[in-house]
Amino acid sequence: MNKRLRNILVGFGIVIVMLQFVQPTRNLGFVEGKEDISKTVDVPLEVKSILQKSCNDCHSNATVYPWYTNIQPLGLWIQHHVDEGKQELNFSTFNLYSPKKKAHKMEELIEMVETNEMPLNSYTWIHKEAVLNEGDKAVLLQWAKATFTSLKAAQ
Ligand code: HEC
Repeated sequence: MNKRLRNILVGFGIVIVMLQFVQPTRNLGFVEGKEDISKTVDVPLEVKSILQKSCNDCHSNATVYPWYTNIQPLGLWIQHHVDEGKQELNFSTFNLYSPKKKAHKMEELIEMVETNEMPLNSYTWIHKEAVLNEGDKAVLLQWAKATFTSLKAAQ
């Protein structure tokens, strides 16, 4: 192997090793604290389990981290999705949203589920169990539409 290539590979190896010391701040709070959506909105068990299985890793205060999230830069990339998802919509702090924002988020949820944009493909690629089947989608959409209507009426 030529010397230059060897140096590049060694340098790359060092960077990868160093990166392992960078650990992102993790999202490890309670799913159902006092500001959780279920405290003000009726969330049937069936809906709750769909949200838990397919959405909560990125849209709640509690992410379940698989072992490979300890490997960088993969873990950093995943944490970025969690942070971004939570910022857009967090079921654990849903009650802190204004009435207008609550209704709007439900509207967005309906759109995301109808167009199969959520859960993210990069997530379901590994989390096969998180894919929404037609039954899940029907349950989720029916709930979200009813919730949207009542949130809209409460404005
Ligand atoms: C792997 C992380 C991840 C999972 C799992 C996930 N989301 Fe998201 N979600 C995101 C990210 C990141 C964004 C913001 C960027 C975007 O819109 O693509 C987002 C945005 C959204 C938005 C848009 C909010 C707005 O106001 O624009 C809704 C609604 C949403 N997700 C609903 C869901 C639902 C419902 C599920 C489960 C069926 C789900 N998401 C699963 C990461 C995720």
